[in-house]
Amino acid sequence: MKLILATQNKGKVKEIKSIFNGSKFEIISLYDLGNNIKIEETGTTFKENAIIKAETIYEYYKEPTIADDSGIEIEQLGGRPGVYSAIYAGENCTDEENNAKVINELKNFPEPHKAKYVCVAVFYDGRNLIETKGELHGRVIKEPRGTEGFGYDPIFIPDGYEKTVAEISLEEKNRISHRAQAFSKLLKELEKLF
Ligand code: IMP
Repeated sequence: MKLILATQNKGKVKEIKSIFNGSKFEIISLYDLGNNIKIEETGTTFKENAIIKAETIYEYYKEPTIADDSGIEIEQLGGRPGVYSAIYAGENCTDEENNAKVINELKNFPEPHKAKYVCVAVFYDGRNLIETKGELHGRVIKEPRGTEGFGYDPIFIPDGYEKTVAEISLEEKNRISHRAQAFSKLLKELEKLF
């Protein structure tokens, strides 16, 4: 069964395809479809934005669609950047600019800078709406390290680790990450349904 993955984020595509690999679901990304649609994320919660993405792409193709919305919540910043994680340093900003902004905002706070990654995953096929969630707790550091992953990975160390998420393999990230938890739960629900 084919599932369209409603994201433009190459890092997410890689992770989510790997999570569904070996299942009966084939993940078709917007890149595979040559679609560079810009989805307006007007929601104020991860759940609202994940649903907006899934519904928008479902209405476009009328095919079962999965989507996620995710981000990092930093305790000392009152939960920011949260749902604005992708554009924290401005529209069309780079991951490096986002990381630099967070590091700058944390400069007067004592360590550890406790944080969590949050992911809400959604399936929508015009009839069924399924929503699952995952969280990864850890801390932010002010010296970026590593080249794997994407986003805030070079400055995020999961609890129980000494390495940043950008210093661990995709396989290891997919054993622990917020996205892996949310999509593994979603996969279980879909296996019950189809
Ligand atoms: P979204 O595409 O609107 O869900 O935005 C997600 C943003 O949150 C990404 O662009 C990253 O900045 C951040 N983010 C979400 N998941 C991760 C992750 O696994 N690693 C690092 N950053 C992440």
